[in-house]
Amino acid sequence: MSILNLGVLASGRGSNLQSIMDACAAGLIPARVAVVFSDNPDAYALERARLAGIPAVHARVGGFDTKEAYERKIIQALNENKVHLVCLAGYMRLVGTELLQAFPGRIINIHPALLPAFPGLHGQEQAWHYGVKYSGCTVHFVDEGMDTGPIIIQAVVPVLEDDTADHLAARILEQEHRIYPEAIKLYATGKLVLEGRRVRVKD
Ligand code: GRF
Repeated sequence: MSILNLGVLASGRGSNLQSIMDACAAGLIPARVAVVFSDNPDAYALERARLAGIPAVHARVGGFDTKEAYERKIIQALNENKVHLVCLAGYMRLVGTELLQAFPGRIINIHPALLPAFPGLHGQEQAWHYGVKYSGCTVHFVDEGMDTGPIIIQAVVPVLEDDTADHLAARILEQEHRIYPEAIKLYATGKLVLEGRRVRVKD
């Protein structure tokens, strides 16, 4: 089976990146992280990449005249490293047309809530404040909207009576680390079929 080259975009601590790198290194998914890109030069995700011997590239949006020019820089890094699938892992920016068109149907994201509920920032806190009894996380294809693309896989996390937003977020994160590599495995093994906005998982 051929190995799928991943490009991971991350803005912060990179624990999801780590779970993906670990799953690849353990041979659990036929993929490898070929490059990590960050819009934040101080992102610990970049350090995790370096420690693993993976190219780590960063560029601040402010260094470019337009969002298109900034995204062309990302595309260059992805193409130079022969990336096939782009994985957003705590990447704090909306993906623009330039990047979407360069990787049509080949960008996925993880969100810490059961979409379509609680899109945007701090999905875990939003759900806790709203008072839901169940929350969770979602891996989905990325489209031009904010966390609106077709859903690949979700995990449900019950909210406990004495939960805090932080405790809930920690249990959701455990599930993120499980389902993101799982979703990449489904993609890498050709199991995902997009039918409209429904994603069917082949046996
Ligand atoms: C995760 O909760 C992810 O769902 C959200 O941003 C957070 C990133 O965490 N999109 P990390 O950088 O992967 O640790």
